[in-house]
Amino acid sequence: MTETTRTPLSLLPMYGHTKGKRSPVTCHFKCGNACLGETCNTTDNEYFRDVAAAALSRRNVLGLGAAGAVLIAAGSAATGGPAAAAPAASALPTGHGHGRGNVGRLPFTAITPVDKSVDAFTVPAGYTWSPIIRWGDPLFADAPAFDLQHQTPSAQKRQFGYNNDYTDVIVDHGNGRSGILVCNQEYVNPGIMFPATTDPAQQATNRAIARAAHGMSVVELTRRRTGRPWSYTVGGRRNRRVDADTTFAFDGPAAGSALLRTVEHADGTTTRGTIGNCSGGTTPWGTVLSGEENFNGYFRTPGTSAEDKRYGLMDKPSTYGWEADEPRWDTRNAGYENAAHQFGWIVEIDPQDPTSTPVKHTAMGRFKHEGANVRVDGEGRVVAYMGDDEKFDYLYKFVSRRRVSRNRAENLKLLSEGDLFVAKFRGDSGASEIDGSGRLPADGAFDGSGMWLPLVVDGRSQVSGMSVEEVLVHTRLAADQVGATKMDRCEDVQPNLLTGKVYVACTNNSDRGKTGKAGADEVNPRTPNRDGHIVELTETGNRAAATTFRWNLLLVCGDPATNTSTYFSGFPKEKVSPISCPDNVAFDSTGNLWISTDGAPSTIGYNDGLFKVTLEGRERGRVQQFLSVPTEAETCGPVIHDRDGMVYVAVQHPGEEGSFAAQHSLFPDYVRPGTSPRAGQVAAPRPSVVQVHRR
Ligand code: FEO
Ligand code: CA
Ligand code: CA
Repeated sequence: MTETTRTPLSLLPMYGHTKGKRSPVTCHFKCGNACLGETCNTTDNEYFRDVAAAALSRRNVLGLGAAGAVLIAAGSAATGGPAAAAPAASALPTGHGHGRGNVGRLPFTAITPVDKSVDAFTVPAGYTWSPIIRWGDPLFADAPAFDLQHQTPSAQKRQFGYNNDYTDVIVDHGNGRSGILVCNQEYVNPGIMFPATTDPAQQATNRAIARAAHGMSVVELTRRRTGRPWSYTVGGRRNRRVDADTTFAFDGPAAGSALLRTVEHADGTTTRGTIGNCSGGTTPWGTVLSGEENFNGYFRTPGTSAEDKRYGLMDKPSTYGWEADEPRWDTRNAGYENAAHQFGWIVEIDPQDPTSTPVKHTAMGRFKHEGANVRVDGEGRVVAYMGDDEKFDYLYKFVSRRRVSRNRAENLKLLSEGDLFVAKFRGDSGASEIDGSGRLPADGAFDGSGMWLPLVVDGRSQVSGMSVEEVLVHTRLAADQVGATKMDRCEDVQPNLLTGKVYVACTNNSDRGKTGKAGADEVNPRTPNRDGHIVELTETGNRAAATTFRWNLLLVCGDPATNTSTYFSGFPKEKVSPISCPDNVAFDSTGNLWISTDGAPSTIGYNDGLFKVTLEGRERGRVQQFLSVPTEAETCGPVIHDRDGMVYVAVQHPGEEGSFAAQHSLFPDYVRPGTSPRAGQVAAPRPSVVQVHRR
């Protein structure tokens, strides 16, 4: 399918196969119809291997101390970061977790779930919303205003990109009236971005615009005072666009490896561009991490090697057809055999310095990285939690070798060197009690223990037959060997900085329990798993660098009105908002979990949204819907700045099943047919970052 002659929905490969998840349009553009291919992970990992047992004794090798975790918040001045955006440990309020629950600093009455056909952004009574920045908004003084009918690659390189995902608002030190917005631009939907054309030259131009619409954006913000809405600054000093052309440096043990070399990047220490940037995290030293997720769909490859198969790299035209423009997108081309190895990494960008070269961290492994969120261990090591978002893939953890410093420049190297682990979960209930129905076992909980199985420790491979470079470039194959637990698509994984507990959003897995595929286990207890669940993980001794942990399921999602397998940590089901397909997570300053969803329209019939989940006290497990995004959109980003009364979300792929000539959404400009748009507005859906605050 070319981007400019839109294929009817019914002809998309995933049409009619998307029960339990998303639109076939998302499947096509976002993940290259991953569900249609063979399951990438065909290994049999059900039992501990010898190397797993060895992991236990390796705790001593790590030299872990007994001290409890020191929870250093994002934004700690001690690490050279900007003003605090996340809670400091001392922010824990007296009486937290008791009484009538944690109302927090954003009191609201849960909204009524919104039918999936409704093209509206819905917030609770007393709140209002506005876009901060939309696809096409100019970032630089020399950037043209958005012109939907006459887009160009050079304009898009200077404008806000498409399909925003990970988002953070980093407030500057000082009076709270300035800051920056950092945002990922994950993928594009040409069928609703561009007028249909059969002109090959225009099609090539559209592909170049698409490459420019990928990547990341940094833009400066100002506001009159705390608690009031932000405006973005055209031409702000720190404004920046990163796209599929931007130069990146590799660092870590695989930088310079033969596995990363192409004719364009002959020494394997640099590459060009970032794609599939999904979720991410903000570090205590004020940089932003971004996960390169569905990179495989951008490539055509031989598709025959074990490595290609394990990463879903195939010999078929790529999703966007960029191989027609640049040889690097077809690894069958001589000299480009390793081009796909240059993607699938955690990227770190310093948004404070628009001249800095962003880095791809090979020490953190290569897979379909959803994102990375860090916590600082009691000894000062940085621990990053990372999900591989693919059915039956794994949960990972990186532990830095060096400790955080007061010198920011030193902290920028923390993720360059360290140990890499993958998670093995064990349930504590009998296997016969886990029957795939989602029925709670006799002990009343889906719970158990687990261990972090080592892949690389102290610069040495822990995987037989694989060098460190091979483990880091072909991380999925390494994790298969050590017997990691096949999960139901780990999306965002984030530690709660108030408690140290880690929350893993397993969004769904429509294949669990299918013939020839892994069945239910206690940490993935439903077959199929259409609505997803949340794992709550507690490291042993609350030490982030521990190699063992306990876990339990906080939520088993769904609409309790129609689904008997839901679980809300014992909170009455009739009092929760229905929730399905958890994706990105965030915390407010008092420790409540906030979850944004991707896929609810196809499972429970409602638009996706943002939900608050109380974690402590009698109301633990209470789910309250805060907002709902427009039709055919996914909720991304969430940023909860409750101390100044602000919530931010990225609205991704609104109206994704429409066409340029017949759009399904007009969010956020809502220019109605027959009316004249105001300056800067268009009659088409625009992925946008939205701010929500009290009226
Ligand atoms: Fe881009 Fe795993 O969601
Ligand atoms: Ca149990
Ligand atoms: Ca996601």
